[in-house]
Amino acid sequence: MKIAIPKECYPGEKRVASTPNVVRHLIELGFKVTLETQAGIHASFTDEDYQLAGAGIAQDSETLLADAQIILKVRAPIKDEIALMSAGSTLISFIWPAQNPELLQRLAAKKINVLAIDSMPRISRTQKMDALSSMANIAGYRAVIEATNAFGRFFSGQITAAGRIQPAKILVIGAGVAGLSAIGTAKSLGAIVRAFDTRLEVKEQIHSLDADFLELDFAENTDGTGGYAKTMSKEFIAAEMALFAEQAKEVDIIITTALIPGKPAPELITEAMVKSMKQGSVIVDLAAEQGGNCALTTPHEITEKYGVKIIGYCDLPSRLSAQSSQSYASNIHHLLTELCPEQQGEIVLNMEDKVIRAITVVKAGLVTWAPPKAPLTSTKESNKNKGQPVEIELIADKGKSTVSKAKQDIILALVISVLLLGLGAVAPSSFMTHFSIFVLACFVGYMVIWNVSHSLHTPLMSITNAVSSIVILGALLQISSSNNTILWLSAIAILIASINIVGGFAVTRRMLKMFSD
Ligand code: NAI
Repeated sequence: MKIAIPKECYPGEKRVASTPNVVRHLIELGFKVTLETQAGIHASFTDEDYQLAGAGIAQDSETLLADAQIILKVRAPIKDEIALMSAGSTLISFIWPAQNPELLQRLAAKKINVLAIDSMPRISRTQKMDALSSMANIAGYRAVIEATNAFGRFFSGQITAAGRIQPAKILVIGAGVAGLSAIGTAKSLGAIVRAFDTRLEVKEQIHSLDADFLELDFAENTDGTGGYAKTMSKEFIAAEMALFAEQAKEVDIIITTALIPGKPAPELITEAMVKSMKQGSVIVDLAAEQGGNCALTTPHEITEKYGVKIIGYCDLPSRLSAQSSQSYASNIHHLLTELCPEQQGEIVLNMEDKVIRAITVVKAGLVTWAPPKAPLTSTKESNKNKGQPVEIELIADKGKSTVSKAKQDIILALVISVLLLGLGAVAPSSFMTHFSIFVLACFVGYMVIWNVSHSLHTPLMSITNAVSSIVILGALLQISSSNNTILWLSAIAILIASINIVGGFAVTRRMLKMFSD
């Protein structure tokens, strides 16, 4: 199949859908690749680089698009481009189907199959194809670079002959892909970074980047679906805004990335907060295109009010065009590898594959967006053949094994009851008292051990520590015995169990340090 890569025509767009290196890989997959002349020039890739990689160069987009079966683009196509594409061809690009229903209709009318790269589900199997994340990563980095440019001071603290320079204080709101990237970049420049997110699970990620996590004393379930946040209650938003109002007076730079997919960005920084910031402060609002997290943001522009610069650029990845073209091209290459399993230059749109289904927004003249809400398995699903049938089989197997396990449990309980009754009939009554305490202790111990959350401790730690604690408790009760043997055995038990607990914590500490270094 012939792949066409036109020059991006959106004003100011500097990215290109493929790089010479990736073109080489596409040719290895069996495709024939042609680019419009100068397509990569703003990302520092010349026509000669592409030609050396084996691609053809077309002088205009008319013949290029009309002749292609696959069209790779970064931005969604404009009307004129669609007119040039031929029916039956497949377009892969950012589309934003939820925001662009008319575009979908236009593409469907032209019978162009469309894969929206922005609709890629965020699961482990798709990480290598997740262009949204790779662009957000670059945007987070660039947001800090824009902030350094607009901020008239150092980020890092310094002690110079002329005096002490305080490090810049940065608040990052929203610790998704872009937010975490911004935190990492700002930390590496030496700033003091604090971050807030509604999802508490990002706390560890923020700490691992050596930044502070700002926590709200507010009980609310924050879990959304698919690793995304959910819209929070009005009370929660009010509480977090009170926190930001305090922070605004203190920090020098605020980078906002708060967003819930498909919803307008929540307004979290008010005009009053901007007014309360120090002169020369900077706000970078990454959510500018979705309405902005700051009340004073103007999309695509830098606004200055109350001595604070508010950056509302919506093209941050394009401002690092060589890097973002490389990452985007690599995402597309992985997607084409999935679509072309035989490596013979032919793509197959297998709608049984949940990932392909999710990104296919137009097929054979029909708008297929939005995909049905099927649960996506995130780990074991490593290739498209492991689709629904496998899952159904597993569920059926699971059903069978649950029934047989229940049967086994009943038989086991019956056997134990019969044994206990037999024992009660022959054993002395004092033995039975001790024995019932022992059985109860085992039961309580079992419940305590297995109910310790594994996310709080490693399973090994939680089990051995619980066992050791029970041993210590038992030994403490016996250590006052007048019998020397019992006394010494208790002392040894306390010593060994304590070594086990302390040693366990020491080993865990060392392991955690290995990850945080
Ligand atoms: P993401 O979905 O990975 O992260 C968004 C984060 O915001 C999530 O962690 C979520 O929990 C958090 N959040 C949601 N509501 C919140 C609230 N009320 N308070 C605090 N945190 C909240 O999104 P990603 O990929 O990191 O993108 C972040 C933003 O950057 C989006 O608005 C995206 O459109 C934008 N973006 C902007 C670019 C530009 O050039 N300006 C380029 C790429 C992305």
